[in-house]
Amino acid sequence: MSSFFCKQCLKTMINSFLSVRSNLFSYVPNVTLACKRYIQTIKVGIIGSGPAGFYTAQALLKDSRVLIDIYEKYPVPFGLIRFGVAPDHQSNVINSFTNTALQDRVSFYGNINIGQDVTLNQLLKSYNAVVLCYGATEDRKLNIEGEDLINVLPARRFVGWYNGIPQDSDLNPFLQTEDVVIIGHGNVALDCARILLSPSTDITNHALTALRESKVKRVYLVGRRGPLQVSFTIKELRELTKLPGCDTIVFPEDFKNITAETINELPRPRKRLTELLLSLANEKNLNNNHKRCVLMFCRSPLQIVGDKHGKVSSVNLGVNRLIQQEDGVKTELTDEKEILKCGLFLRSIGYRAVSIDPSIPLNDKTGVISNTNGKVHGFDFGLYCSGWAATGATGVIIGTMNASFEIAEHILKDFGQNEPLLVEKPGATEIIPHLKSKGVKVVTFNDWQRIDELEKNLGSQLGKPREKLVNQKDMIKAVDEEKD
Ligand SMILES: Cc1cc2nc3c(=O)[nH]c(=O)nc-3n(C[C@H](O)[C@H](O)[C@H](O)COP(=O)(O)OP(=O)(O)OC[C@H]3O[C@@H](n4cnc5c(N)ncnc54)[C@H](O)[C@@H]3O)c2cc1C
Ligand SMILES: NC(=O)c1ccc[n+]([C@@H]2O[C@H](COP(=O)([O-])OP(=O)(O)OC[C@H]3O[C@@H](n4cnc5c(N)ncnc54)[C@H](OP(=O)(O)O)[C@@H]3O)[C@@H](O)[C@H]2O)c1
Repeated sequence: MSSFFCKQCLKTMINSFLSVRSNLFSYVPNVTLACKRYIQTIKVGIIGSGPAGFYTAQALLKDSRVLIDIYEKYPVPFGLIRFGVAPDHQSNVINSFTNTALQDRVSFYGNINIGQDVTLNQLLKSYNAVVLCYGATEDRKLNIEGEDLINVLPARRFVGWYNGIPQDSDLNPFLQTEDVVIIGHGNVALDCARILLSPSTDITNHALTALRESKVKRVYLVGRRGPLQVSFTIKELRELTKLPGCDTIVFPEDFKNITAETINELPRPRKRLTELLLSLANEKNLNNNHKRCVLMFCRSPLQIVGDKHGKVSSVNLGVNRLIQQEDGVKTELTDEKEILKCGLFLRSIGYRAVSIDPSIPLNDKTGVISNTNGKVHGFDFGLYCSGWAATGATGVIIGTMNASFEIAEHILKDFGQNEPLLVEKPGATEIIPHLKSKGVKVVTFNDWQRIDELEKNLGSQLGKPREKLVNQKDMIKAVDEEKD
């Protein structure tokens, strides 16, 4: 009993029972009401400060009893907004996340790696609910021969390099080659191609310097399916076609089985995208002095080939035919093969979530945390997930926002239904001293704002919005120096 009802409720229950002896069961609703009054705060721990973390927090704040602590692995917030989204694609979501972080009922604790610095179990004991919003931080693999050769990289790391993610800042991708192959027809592949062919000046300085000295002339974007199945979107393709000094090439033969009627019947966004691809296929005015971005369809990498130094030198491609099946368009290898030479090979075939604690069930096939409406399987009440960790690595920020709002609704509903089970929890007052005693340097949102200011100052000296600190030690140093 005592683990279910607080002292105040027990008192109310006894009083209620004594005063209304004629109705033995009348104390039951009183207890629920008393509990509602007595629980002053519902403590929620959110793991990850990307869009999912911040949008989930924003929606949970609707319940005035909710207090939120956001834990982030890096000393800096915002997840892929900082480390994924290309600097020339930034929107104003950071302002809205900052507003959320500055609310009285929200605290940010950076530089804390959940799973390593503190266990999930410790968090579950200290919070009424924990929401896993830690994204999808691992890249998918092709599982073909040669994937471990030198200069074969996941696009995830290449993106991390030009966006200043600490562990990839010294990646040094090999750019003294004229030919780069990128596998995958998603927006990440297009981001990488765009940066390789005409780098935005807003990327980190180390990457910009290397890219300015790059010898890359041709980027091959290789997709396993056809023009009607690409994952990238029209805005991003159009941007690629407008790069100065660069032509985007599509081969007319890739459209030989696609009739005007088929195109007309496509949903509008897909129709417009296909029309743009078709117009590129009909383009005759190619400039021999320009760099080239070549879109190749119906090709699967079979083997990555290395030279005697273990560096990638070419890729063997199999030509596919497309087969319409009940669950979509699939590929089947034909006997036709091709060899494409390259000095840098990027695989950009999607991301997957990892398990940061052995108790978190992960669907190995889909790379997401096993969950129903955000409720993690195997946990009755108290553990949730949201964002790419819950849905998989698909969709743009607005999609992550909508999904996070929905999951927050489910969590609030769960709080309502499990009201009598809610007891006061210590939240960060228990976790933070524990971390400090272990020597973990905790970075607050105030601290981040100091780093932010410093980065903006460094940027203004270089004529750009910000120059990111790319080293975790430098971030911490910036905080400590300001405090001295
Ligand atoms: C390269 C790239 C470019 C993109 N560009 C765009 C774009 O231009 N426009 C657009 O709308 N969408 C874009 N997206 C999609 C967008 O970034 C995602 O929809 C969104 O970031 C997913 O949010 P999330 O919070 O689930 O994950 P994330 O943004 O990855 O956030 C997860 C957070 O959890 C933290 N974390 C991870 N593990 C731990 C741990 N153990 N302890 C504590 N914290 C942890 C991470 O450091 C991170 O801060 C892009 C995606 C990529 C990969
Ligand atoms: N500017 C933006 O808005 C922006 C920028 C970057 C990312 N994003 C979003 O972030 C999400 C992730 O992007 P993403 O590009 O990583 O993933 P994605 O959109 O899922 O694209 C992955 C690509 O890899 C291919 N692929 C998967 N497995 C493969 C394999 N084994 N062999 C060969 N090809 C394979 C897929 O082909 P199949 O279709 O055949 O599976 C697809 O073309 C997307 O929703 C994207 O829109 C948005």
